[in-house]
Amino acid sequence: MTPEDEESKASKDAPSLRTEVRPPVRLGVLLSGRGSNFMAIAQSIRDGQLKGVEIAVVISNVAEAAGISEAQQLGLPHAVLVSKDRARAEHDADVVRCLLEHRVDLVCLAGYMRLLSPEFITAFPTRILNIHPSLLPAFPGLDAQQQAFDYGVKWAGCTVHFVDEHLDHGTIVLQRAIPVLDDDDAHSLAERILAEEHIAYSEAIARVVGGAWEIRGRRYVKR
Ligand code: GRF
Repeated sequence: MTPEDEESKASKDAPSLRTEVRPPVRLGVLLSGRGSNFMAIAQSIRDGQLKGVEIAVVISNVAEAAGISEAQQLGLPHAVLVSKDRARAEHDADVVRCLLEHRVDLVCLAGYMRLLSPEFITAFPTRILNIHPSLLPAFPGLDAQQQAFDYGVKWAGCTVHFVDEHLDHGTIVLQRAIPVLDDDDAHSLAERILAEEHIAYSEAIARVVGGAWEIRGRRYVKR
């Protein structure tokens, strides 16, 4: 059997794993910068599009992250836990403690520019989401939009996925795709992908908390 066959067989044999959380679902948003995905989630909640969900805490690992000022202006609980020059396990233990103190059910990485330790992932099993600006598994890692543009793909997009111990790798919750236009440059492409991200993240959260979907092997499917 090839590794692909093995993965596919494992997927068919895998027990299904339900991921819903009982409302009101308390989100912990982790960010490192601009925070536009966090703002889009907050807006969907305010507009009543994303129901049964509330933001319990916004945490930044960077003191000057714009997203944390936005959280402050919105009057949301927020914390800065600077990661620079700290051991990953030590810093992550502080972040996990803060999330638990705020009784967080679901962690949303929104431009959080830091890998999570295995201990962090274990503390929130199938309870951590990430958004990545490419159609995974293409172009994991940094500068995904530039990577896609340079490669010359005709379709680009974004992926919301569960976080596992590998980079940009966990089960995919949903993807949104857009065509790459002839007159795009990497910047215009990134802007149009970002607009899709702002829709995708709330849709993915709704899917995860809604109870109609489950993880089966590597696939996220309707029950
Ligand atoms: C987004 O492109 C997201 O996909 C990636 O980091 C960026 C964060 O942007 N993981 P923002 O801080 O949410 O505006």
